[in-house]
Amino acid sequence: MMQTELRECSMRDGIDILEMLREIGPGENGFQNNAFNVKDEVFHNVIGRWIDISRGIGLEPGFVPQTLYWLYIDGRAVGIAKLRHYLTDSLRAVGGHIGYCIRPSERGKGYGNILLCETLKKAAEINIPRALLICDEGNTASGRVIENNGGVPERTDNGMCYYWIQLDIDSGIREIHPDDYEEMFELWKNTPGMGISEADSKIKMHQFLLNNPGLSFCFKEGNRIVATSLCGHDYRRGYIYHTAVLPEYRGRGIARMLVRKNLEQLKTAGIEKCHLFVLGNNELGKSFWHSTGWTRRNDICVYSRDT
Ligand SMILES: CC(C)(COP(=O)(O)OP(=O)(O)OC[C@H]1O[C@@H](n2cnc3c(N)ncnc32)[C@H](O)[C@@H]1OP(=O)(O)O)[C@@H](O)C(=O)NCCC(=O)NCCS
Repeated sequence: MMQTELRECSMRDGIDILEMLREIGPGENGFQNNAFNVKDEVFHNVIGRWIDISRGIGLEPGFVPQTLYWLYIDGRAVGIAKLRHYLTDSLRAVGGHIGYCIRPSERGKGYGNILLCETLKKAAEINIPRALLICDEGNTASGRVIENNGGVPERTDNGMCYYWIQLDIDSGIREIHPDDYEEMFELWKNTPGMGISEADSKIKMHQFLLNNPGLSFCFKEGNRIVATSLCGHDYRRGYIYHTAVLPEYRGRGIARMLVRKNLEQLKTAGIEKCHLFVLGNNELGKSFWHSTGWTRRNDICVYSRDT
C-alpha cells in the first residue's frame, strides 16, 4: 500500500524539501519556484517567511495568505502545492487558488492527481466555496489533473484555460468566505428591507471578514447560498449585519440558527452584548428580532454623519 501524506510547510522541514525545490528549478507553465537557488544556511529563514505568509503576516500589498504543502509518497517528497486563501482580481486572471508541481523525476506516476485531490481537501477546510484553477492551454498533463479532480472548464483566454472545481456540495451552515462575496451581494440586493451602501463594497466586505474571522455564517442548500448573517465586534460590543434569507427558504428557522451561531461565537470571543440596526420601515425584520429574544432600545438614538 502506497503511503500518501500532504504536509503543511513547517519549521521542521528538512533538506529533502530543499533538494526537491532544486530539482524543480525556477518553475514552468506558470508555476513559479523562487526558492530553487536558496542556500542551505538560509533555508529556514525562507521557511519562516512562508509560514508568515500563510498566516497573513507581513504580506506585500495586493498579496493574500498562501499556504505551501509538500506531497510525500512513501516518505519521499515528490511535489509542492500552493494554496491561496482567497481570490483577488489579479489571481482571478493569473494563478487562481492553487498552483502545483511534481518534481521531474516523479512525474507520470499519478502523483499530480493525488496532489491536487489532497490540496482541494485543504481548500474545503478553509471554506473556499469553489476553487479556480488556471493552466496553459498546451499543458495537457495539468488539464488532465484538473479534469480528473472535477474541474469544469469555464473559458479559454490568452492561451490560458480557466476551470472551476466546486468544493462545498454539503448543505447547511458554514462560515462565510471572502470568495462568497458576489453570491451574497446578489442575495442582499434582492432582499427587500436591506440597506446596501458603499460599506458593502467587495474590498470593505473582505476587510470586514478578514478582521472578524469565525463570526459570520451562511446557509447553503446544494451549491447555493440561501441565507447570510454577518457579525463583527470592536472588542467592546458585537454587531450583526445583513441577516437575510431568500424568500423561498423563509419560515424554516434558518435565520434563527445563523444568529444563534453568531452569538455563540461572540461569547467565545469574550463579547457579552450584541447590537444591530433595523430600518424603521422593515416590519418583517422587526418582528423577527422581537420574536427571537432581542430587546428594542427606546433609550438610545443612533446618530450618523459622513466622515
Ligand atoms: C502537471 C503535473 C503536476 C502533472 O503531474 P504528474 O504526476 O506527472 O501527473 P499524473 O501522473 O498524476 O497524471 C495526471 C494525468 O495527466 C496525464 N499526463 C501526465 N503526463 C502527461 C504528458 N506529458 N502528456 C499528456 N498527458 C500527461 C496522465 O495520463 C494523467 O491522466 P489520466 O489520469 O487521465 O490518465 C506535472 O507535469 C508538473 O509538475 N508540471 C510542471 C508544473 C505545472 O505545469 N504545473 C501546473 C501549472 S497549472
